[in-house]
Amino acid sequence: MIGKARGDPISITGLGAHVPERVLTNDELSTIVDTSDEWIMARTGIRERRIAAPEQALTDLALPAARAALAQAHVEAKDVDLLVCATVTPDMMFPTSSALLADELGAPDAAAYDLLAGCTGFMYALAQAYGMMAAGLAQRALVVGGDVLSRILDWTDRSTLILFGDGAGAVVLERVERPGFIGFELGADGGGGIHLSLPGSGSRRMEDAEGNGFVHMNGREVFKFATRVLVASAQAVLGHCGVSVDEVDVYVPHQANVRIMDHAAGKLGIPRERMIVNVDRYGNTSSGSIPLALADAQREGRLKKGDLVLMTGMGAGLTWGSGLMEWTL
Ligand code: UT7
Repeated sequence: MIGKARGDPISITGLGAHVPERVLTNDELSTIVDTSDEWIMARTGIRERRIAAPEQALTDLALPAARAALAQAHVEAKDVDLLVCATVTPDMMFPTSSALLADELGAPDAAAYDLLAGCTGFMYALAQAYGMMAAGLAQRALVVGGDVLSRILDWTDRSTLILFGDGAGAVVLERVERPGFIGFELGADGGGGIHLSLPGSGSRRMEDAEGNGFVHMNGREVFKFATRVLVASAQAVLGHCGVSVDEVDVYVPHQANVRIMDHAAGKLGIPRERMIVNVDRYGNTSSGSIPLALADAQREGRLKKGDLVLMTGMGAGLTWGSGLMEWTL
């Protein structure tokens, strides 16, 4: 799917993020599995990640992120009429985490549902919320992206354990004076889905019980996919919207691996200083990755009113998705 926004004056008016307190360093990881800080830094650029406490579930991370986004937007939860929560690690399959969040926040009039699109979930949710608002179905949306991937990792598998962390982010979408959203490109390739999967997590019966319920990843294949789609999707949305890559002020790729991100920025011709990087501190937080990066960029003063922002996510599905917007906050 590719589309240019119609110019409706809809934009992000509030942004928030939250990560658990517990920091897990590479050195600590090397006491759990056969790995080293040198290997992880060289192959991924990740130094440390946050890990949820045993009693914390997704909504415990998403709630503070959502409250921060609402506060920044000066919006009361009761005025939110759409709440989409992108995650692959909801508190439980149902009730949905979005319904739980709407209840805890106090948004009784909100349509609330969870959205599954792997690490691309936030980009899918953002496009959907924009579309619902542009169609006049919703007036004020809260889009949450977050995951507690540490719960579904095999803590004996070094190839996945080193990559992921826990965290959540949220944005408020409202009608504003100037259009923020410019366009989106979203896609999926179920044929490649097997390269990043969570066997035993749904209605498909898995005969082999071993490893069920844990993330399985073919790292090399996902790496190839990631380097390809981060470039192709960004070029597609830029081309479709008639925007040159030189106009991009802030580039926010999915925080998967510094090597993947550097490759994408290089191929696209985006100077590294325009790219937001926080994967070194948080690892890959899946649906939380892009809103967490946006929140960090805002805190560091790197997101300014009028900036052209390019975001691209990719992940399980396999899925990918880009969004182009003018920052209006
Ligand atoms: O949102 C999407 C989520 N997924 C991704 O973004 C993952 C994309 N893939 C990657 O980031 C990379 O493929 C990894 C970081 C996972 C792995 O890096 P790589 O350069 O592709 O390494 P590799 O899988 O080709 O493995 C190279 C070697 C192997 O040893 P041999 O066969 O060469 O002897 C692995 O067994 O490194 C070994 N290895 C490790 N060594 C130390 C694999 N994991 C580790 C580890 N520590 N944690």
